[in-house]
Amino acid sequence: MNDNPVILAFCCHYCAYAAADLAGSMRLQYPANVRVLKLPCTGKVEVNYILAAFERGADGVFIAGCLEGGCHYLEGNLRARRRVERAKKILQEIGLEPERLEMYNLSSAEGPRFAQIATEMTERIAALPPSPLRPDRATVEKNVQEMAAAAQAAVAGDNR
Ligand code: FES
Repeated sequence: MNDNPVILAFCCHYCAYAAADLAGSMRLQYPANVRVLKLPCTGKVEVNYILAAFERGADGVFIAGCLEGGCHYLEGNLRARRRVERAKKILQEIGLEPERLEMYNLSSAEGPRFAQIATEMTERIAALPPSPLRPDRATVEKNVQEMAAAAQAAVAGDNR
């Protein structure tokens, strides 16, 4: 059990991030454990980016991109799904539960679905022990801030 997991959500600016925003506007509650990082496209998420999130203390990670066929960069979300599958295999090889990682597709209009995904991921990760890689809470918070800043820089440069 992990009562207070740290979960990072790498969200595409065009869909999942907008859906998270919509969830907020609709005053839908979802767990504060989920930290939303905005990216220009999920195609930006490399395998080593996912692994770095775990290395820096995330207990769980999900990637949320546009619906299949709806990526603004054509195949970014398909690449992201393949990378998530690869990263899951690596997690297993190093002894971390692959269910700590998931890929979702949704549209910008799906605020309630975003809230549901965030809740489901939180429940899933809370049922697992804390990540053995997790440093102390202050370090995790600092790392999350750094990753958010890096994601923000990527959005600003849109250098998917
Ligand atoms: Fe949304 Fe590519 S633009 S996943």
